[in-house]
Formats: sequence, structure tokens, C-alpha cells
Amino acid sequence: MTDWRTIFHEQARWCETMGAPFMALLCDALPGALTGDADFSRRIREWPGDEAHATKDALVMRVTGALNAVRRAGRLPQLDALYPPAAMPGRDQLAAALKAAIASVDADLLPWLGSAPQTNEVGRSGALMPGLMTIAAETGLTIRLFEVGASAGLNLRLDDYAYDFGGLKMGNRSSAVRIRPIWRGMQPPAAEVRITERRGVDLNPLDVTDEATRAALMAYVWPDQQERVTRLEAALARAAADPPPIDRGDAAAWTERHLHPAPGTVTVLMHSVALQYFPADSQRRIHDHMTRIGNTAPADAPLAWLSYEMAEVGKPMHVDLTLWPAGEKRLLGLTHPHGTEIEWRHAASPKN
Ligand SMILES: C[S@@+](CC[C@H](N)C(=O)[O-])C[C@H]1O[C@@H](n2cnc3c(N)ncnc32)[C@H](O)[C@@H]1O
Repeated sequence: MTDWRTIFHEQARWCETMGAPFMALLCDALPGALTGDADFSRRIREWPGDEAHATKDALVMRVTGALNAVRRAGRLPQLDALYPPAAMPGRDQLAAALKAAIASVDADLLPWLGSAPQTNEVGRSGALMPGLMTIAAETGLTIRLFEVGASAGLNLRLDDYAYDFGGLKMGNRSSAVRIRPIWRGMQPPAAEVRITERRGVDLNPLDVTDEATRAALMAYVWPDQQERVTRLEAALARAAADPPPIDRGDAAAWTERHLHPAPGTVTVLMHSVALQYFPADSQRRIHDHMTRIGNTAPADAPLAWLSYEMAEVGKPMHVDLTLWPAGEKRLLGLTHPHGTEIEWRHAASPKN
């Protein structure tokens, strides 16, 4: 069996490539910190199964999320001087401080090992919004928006955020949720997005009105990405005041029930970093349903499928759009998994 420490060092290399140097340092320091008698440390060292199993369980993210949650709750003030925005500590210094910290809040940390992290990345709205702007420009219609794998539904509220797409300012300009991806390539059409109806589904919908749920979502954001931290805090505060409706269930049955064209408006199915988690049968049913009803959608009741998903491991994600009645799948852009960098490939043709 592979040494349990390996997955921490592997995660550290991944964090480096994702531009998170503190998380990389933390993951490299943790094997040296998880050597004590605390139940938290022992359970990690004795995690059942092999390395692949631990990776699948997102064990490292459970650990870093646990520490961050307890620290953010103010119960580990000794770590504040070592976590961002403080200067980066040395690895051994961090490991020693973590080991002492873990021993002092063992009981607080333990429950976090019990479930895999569930996230909702609002930065992805930076690539979904120009997708909706493209749909709005091409149809000239209002939008009914349906999201599968919506998590807490933060991206369902994407018209509430302020955007800067390489100088093109869109969305709600006064919003505290500011999304400014590094923008390359073409400009998206400056079409106004008017959403008249929105609804999501998730196997495990997260309730943004629940304080503990909001705290958990915050805990999984990497602490050295301050812009993400600020943005998620702002998005959660706004969503708590106006929660998006998210049903509990599997994406396929829900898509079959809700995705039907309506006259005078465009009906949109949207998802980001979700499809890969759906069972193969659900993916097939969604594809079959969208193709079947898309191909019979009347011209005055168009149907759209906006997808932000992995195309190849380790490569930029694809933002694809299929708009019926035409029904041709187009690559709109390439994007970083968190939406921090976007290369827009598509110039939309306005409605004529
Ligand atoms: C990585 S998260 C992405 C969440 C969100 N779309 C985002 O971009 O931040 C994937 C989501 O898919 C949900 N999920 C997984 N399988 C599902 C299924 N069969 N039906 C509906 N949702 C599912 C998970 O619960 C999780 O919230």
C-alpha cells in the first residue's frame, strides 16, 4: 500500500499549478503535522483503502477544509499569523504550529472528516454569463434558466453579479460580487440578460440560508485566493437574502420534467463542472432528452444547452453552446476550472 503522505504531496503539486502557493505549502507541511496522538491525525493515517481510495474521498480537502473552518470560526488564532494574508511561513514552522493546533481542537476537527467537500464556484459565472449573453443576442428573447448540479445555486443568480470582460462591463454594476476574469480572445456580445424564471437541481442541494452551510462553503475556498474568498462571501450574503430554488434529485429525471420549450422565451439548460459526477445513464438521458425536444422546438420557442465542463484532464475546460432549432454544438470559449482565465473563441451573430 502507498504511504498515506503521498496524496498530500501530490495535492501540493496540483495547488502549485492552480496558482495557490500557500495551499501547496500547507499540503506539504501536513504529513509532518499529522504525526501526533490526536484522533483527527490518527484517522487520517489509518484511512481505509489505498491511495486511490483516499484521493477519491478528497481526503486532503477534508483535512484542509477542517483546519480552515475551525480557524475561520476563531478557534485557532495561533494559525492566523501563518495563514494568508500573513507572509508565507517556513514549512517546518507551519508543520509544528499545525501539530499543536490539531491537538488543541481535535474534537472540533473530527466531524469534518465525515463527509466529502461540496463546493459552489461563483467564478464560473464569468464564463456562463457570456454564454447567456450569446443566447440573448442570438434570440433577442428573455431566458428561463434551469441548472443541473447546482449545489447552492450561486451560479443560478449570475445576473446579480458585476462583470468586467476585458473592459466590457455587464451585469448588475452595483453588485458586491465582482467577477473580472483574465480575458483573452473575442469580446462577447453586449446583450442584456433578462431571466424570467430560474430553478436548479442537485443530489444534495445546499441551503444558503443556513449559517453552518455557508461556513462550510467558505472553508473549502483556498485561503491564499483572497479574491475568491471575498467574492464567495459576498455571493453567499446576497443569496441568503434571496435564495435560489433548488430541488433535490437526480439531474436526468429533473431535466426530462422541466426542460420543455415555451413560446416567446428561450429555455436554457446550464451546468458547470457537474456532468462528470453524474452516472453515465443520467448523462445519456439528458443528452437524449435535449436532442429530442430540441429537434422539435418551434422557432418562437428555442431551446439552449450551455455547458462548462472538462474536455480533457489537465486541459482548459470547454464552454459549449447548442441552440435549437439549428442544433449545432459550438465551442464558445476555453476556461480555467475556477473561471479565473477565459479565452473567448466565439463572436455571436445578432438576431436578424
Ligand atoms: C463540483 S460540484 C459543481 C457545483 C456547481 N455547478 C459549480 O460549478 O460550482 C458538482 C455538483 O453536482 C452534484 N451532483 C452530482 N451528481 C448529481 C446528480 N446525479 N444529479 C444532480 N446533481 C448531482 C453534486 O452534489 C455537486 O453539487
